[in-house]
Amino acid sequence: MDKEVILTGLRSNSEFHLGNYLGAISPMVNLQKKHAGKYQLNMFVPDLHSFTTPVEHGKLYEQTHQNLKIFVAAGLEIDQPDTFIYRQSFIPAHSEMAWILGCFTGFGEMSRMTEFKDKAQTVGAAHITLGLFNYPILMASDILLYGAKWVPVGEDQRQHVEFARDIAIRMNRKFGDIFVVPEDNKKQMAFAGRSQPVRIRSLRNPDRKMSKSIGDPAGTIMLSDNPDEAANKVISATTDSVGVINLDFDKQPGVSNLLQILAHLSNKPQTEINGRFVGKLSYSQLKEEVADAVKNFLADLQTKLLTIDDHKLMRKLAVDEEAMRQVASATLLNVQKVVGLRPA
Ligand code: TRP
Repeated sequence: MDKEVILTGLRSNSEFHLGNYLGAISPMVNLQKKHAGKYQLNMFVPDLHSFTTPVEHGKLYEQTHQNLKIFVAAGLEIDQPDTFIYRQSFIPAHSEMAWILGCFTGFGEMSRMTEFKDKAQTVGAAHITLGLFNYPILMASDILLYGAKWVPVGEDQRQHVEFARDIAIRMNRKFGDIFVVPEDNKKQMAFAGRSQPVRIRSLRNPDRKMSKSIGDPAGTIMLSDNPDEAANKVISATTDSVGVINLDFDKQPGVSNLLQILAHLSNKPQTEINGRFVGKLSYSQLKEEVADAVKNFLADLQTKLLTIDDHKLMRKLAVDEEAMRQVASATLLNVQKVVGLRPA
């Protein structure tokens, strides 16, 4: 395979909400639109990473499948020959590679990961699983097995991509050129070209991210919500007592969030939306328009979901998983040879 590889993981721990859609799903679909044909695109489900955060084990398997359908409903083209979708746990080389890389990774190196440090501060290091502690190693395997140069991720995952680069360089120094080295953070950011990461807030507590896990149903729009009920959540969204619409996430997070949602759902530049609303229209006019946009968006997405050809999706998964197993096994074998597990 000679095209450069763009690789990214789509976590499928739980049902998706509007924040996931606008912040992660839609950007990934756009990534495909932008790069298909020129790059190889690996969009995989890191299901082994699921256990680093709480998960309903009985639902995980089906959830993964359901979430992949949502990607297709959102516009992911599964006929595109350069796009590969696969589940991590169906390709055993990920785990095997992670073990080997772990043996070349320092305890201190993992302890310095910001995510680990933050969690250790809140819950205490003794309560952190080894999975959460060392998942950056598994993530490095995800990336290095396929020779990916480009790994578009959110802010909180950048450090982990840097680690993948570090360990690739270290292994290459020790064993010769066994890995493609992912590009550095600066190049990754330029490649992703993302100006502002989209962070949709809770409708009820707009100081916080929209999130399923904190038990905030009135503030969270699930993609499976009844469209009318979702519209009502928008109408009852928390705003403020300023009385004039402004885009100011510090002072008026509620109305700012609504402006942001409207811009994304209507696919218009934020400035255009602001131009219509800021200082001009009332809170209730804004809410009504956002409620309508949310309602139409959900109705449309849910209709599309019903038309998805499940068999075709499952076939695509099976074919891609087989193809990726070949690629991953070849990389793993090279590594097994240089570390002395297989004859050179
Ligand atoms: N750790 C990422 C997250 O929590 C998901 C992920 C796993 C990933 N492996 C990856 C992302 C490899 C990019 C590349 O969101």
